[in-house]
Order: sequence, then C-alpha cells, then structure tokens
Amino acid sequence: MDVKEAIKKRRSVRGFLDKEVNIETVKEILEISKRAPSGVNSQPWKVYVITGKSKDNLIREACDKFDNGQMENELYQVYPEERPDWYKDRQRKTGFALYDALGIKKEDMDKRVAQAKKNYEFFGAPVGLFITVNKSVGPNGWGHVGHLIQNICLTAVEAGLGTCLQEAWAGLPTLVKEHVGYSDDEVLWCGIALGYEDADHPANSFRTEREEFESFAKILK
Ligand SMILES: Cc1cc2nc3c(=O)[nH]c(=O)nc-3n(C[C@H](O)[C@H](O)[C@H](O)COP(=O)(O)O)c2cc1C
Repeated sequence: MDVKEAIKKRRSVRGFLDKEVNIETVKEILEISKRAPSGVNSQPWKVYVITGKSKDNLIREACDKFDNGQMENELYQVYPEERPDWYKDRQRKTGFALYDALGIKKEDMDKRVAQAKKNYEFFGAPVGLFITVNKSVGPNGWGHVGHLIQNICLTAVEAGLGTCLQEAWAGLPTLVKEHVGYSDDEVLWCGIALGYEDADHPANSFRTEREEFESFAKILK
C-alpha cells in the first residue's frame, strides 16, 4: 500500500470486530511509527498498550466513573474556551454525521450520552493505546507527538487495522495513570482504539468532509 492510499483510507473507526490483534503487529506498528520526526530528535512521546484483562479492568472502572458523573479535570485544554463560528460549524457537522449514521436524533440526549460512553470501551476494539507527552515540551512538542500518532494511524491501515483517536480519555488522566503507570513527567494526551474494523457497523458508514484546497492553501509566485 502506498502512502497516498493509506492517507485516503484512514478514517476514524468507531465499531470493531471481536477479533484479536497479534501483539507482534502492534509492536511492528510502533517500531515503524517511532521514525516520526521531532525537533532536535527529542521524541517527547510515550505509548502504553493495553489489552486483555488489563483493558477490561480499565474499561469497567472508566465506565463506572462516566455513569456516576465522576469524570476528572483535564490536564490540558481539549476544546478552545472561545469557539469561533468555523470551529463550531465543523464540530456540529462531524457530530451530526455520526448521530445520523447511528439513527440518533439531535434531541435524544440519552442516546448521545450512550454513544459518548463507547469511547471508554474503545468502541469494542481489542487494543487500546495511550499517548503521553513529556511535560517539559510546549505546544511545539505536542505537534511532534502528532507526527507519531499519524504514523500509527497510517501504519495500522497498511496492516489492515482501523483506529480512532480519543481525546475523551483526557477526562480520566488519574485513572489511566493508575492503570498504565505513566510517570509524573508525562501528560496524557489521548487514547487510540485499535482493531479490525466492523465494516457493517453504522458508526463506520460515513466519511467526514474536508475544506477545498483554496480555503486552506495559498500558492504565491
Ligand atoms: C487528537 C484527536 C482526538 C480525537 N478524539 C476523539 C474522541 O475522543 N472520540 C471520537 O469519537 N473521535 C475523536 N477524534 C476523531 C475526530 O473526530 C476525527 O478525526 C475527525 O472528525 C475527522 O474524521 P476522520 O478521522 O474520520 O477523518 C479525535 C481526533 C483527534 C485528531
């Protein structure tokens, strides 16, 4: 598979088959992804892979916390304080495309909450990854960790796997720390659900759009 094909094929997968992923495949994905560029080759990332009983225990506790309104304070600002109109528009479009695909009406808050909860089950994926950023780096370094994350997503596509990035896990940094043991030097950025896509799952039946070339790129001669 070439890079262009992998980029076009990658999308957020929110429904997975009940099919194990070989841990050697996960290791290979991470081995290749670590070639991501980072300023001064700082590599300010860490990755925690959670599977099997460890994952099930975390899911159980995370879902309990979600159900009981015990979400934690996020350690970084996930959404902008002031959302400009263009941001709100794109956020709404993305959310409603998902709800439409799932047959959830805008006003059906119970079903919307139930869908949000699926984040804490990794949408049924057999593997969960957590990505942390070293606290010493600022926004510039977070961008570098983004390169690693994109490599993971694209390499997964080539391996026949799907991913969903999940900043939802930023709402449970202490619980995740207790389970995966990341150090005080790290900030939890996001989770990644990893597994074989369930192509028949309605949550996987839509594609998000992108802006036209002219609205984000400018060529000066
Ligand atoms: C850092 C990051 C965090 C995200 N967190 C979540 C999340 O918590 N839950 C979710 O369902 N999707 C999450 N997404 C997926 C985005 O909604 C998705 O990438 C976007 O709508 C574009 O769709 P696509 O990935 O299918 O191309 C996240 C994406 C990124 C890059």
